[in-house]
Amino acid sequence: MPFSSDEIPNPRQSVLRERRDAAVSGHLERTPAIYRGAIRIHPEADDWSRRRDDAPPSLFLTGPIGVGKTHTAWQASRQWLSTTVDRFGRVPSIETWRSTALFDALRPDNRDYDAKALTGTLQRADLLYVDDLAAARVSPTGWTQERLYEIFDERYINRRPVLITCDVLPGQISHIVGDRVSSRLGEMCRGGVLLLEGDDRRKGGVAA
Ligand SMILES: Nc1ncnc2c1ncn2[C@@H]1O[C@H](COP(=O)(O)OP(=O)(O)O)[C@@H](O)[C@H]1O
Ligand SMILES: [Mg+2]
Repeated sequence: MPFSSDEIPNPRQSVLRERRDAAVSGHLERTPAIYRGAIRIHPEADDWSRRRDDAPPSLFLTGPIGVGKTHTAWQASRQWLSTTVDRFGRVPSIETWRSTALFDALRPDNRDYDAKALTGTLQRADLLYVDDLAAARVSPTGWTQERLYEIFDERYINRRPVLITCDVLPGQISHIVGDRVSSRLGEMCRGGVLLLEGDDRRKGGVAA
């Protein structure tokens, strides 16, 4: 049967769809195994990930341990990626870091990373996702906090989004990331601080 004009595959749409599917598969491969399964995420996280017009650019997921912050963030970042490819026709860069690994990588004596080059990458990425921002028991040193300041200030002044999970609020992490980063995060995530409530799912709890 011949195609109606509505059904004729549009080459640009096909290319975009392929690009999006490849990007989402790559993201899933990088996702830790327990966070690959699709879950129903909080409507505000869903709005953020689908870049709805009134959603804030950055998202700060907070709440007690085990409530589902990290799983929500992985799924939200995957949806954000998919929406961005569809809307802007290009594959955005997403940097995902556990905070403790990030602080280590930014230390001046780290042999695996060039802290300056990494700082530049994290300043420019289309989305920076930092998991469990308050997890470090030993706060980063002044030098590492300066790199964090460079990263977050550059993102702040260019309105580049961040996705953060953390078991405390942005105003309660100054001792870890420094006052300047804490203050910028507060502004970047204004309207986008989302409290997930419920019991520890690792102990069989279900979030509200
Ligand atoms: N909505 C959900 N439905 C089913 N399982 C979930 C959901 N959210 C999280 N989980 C599971 O609960 C456990 C804890 O989630 P996680 O995101 O690691 O918590 P948090 O980051 O808040 O400490 C993980 O095994 C995760 O896969
Ligand atoms: Mg977590």
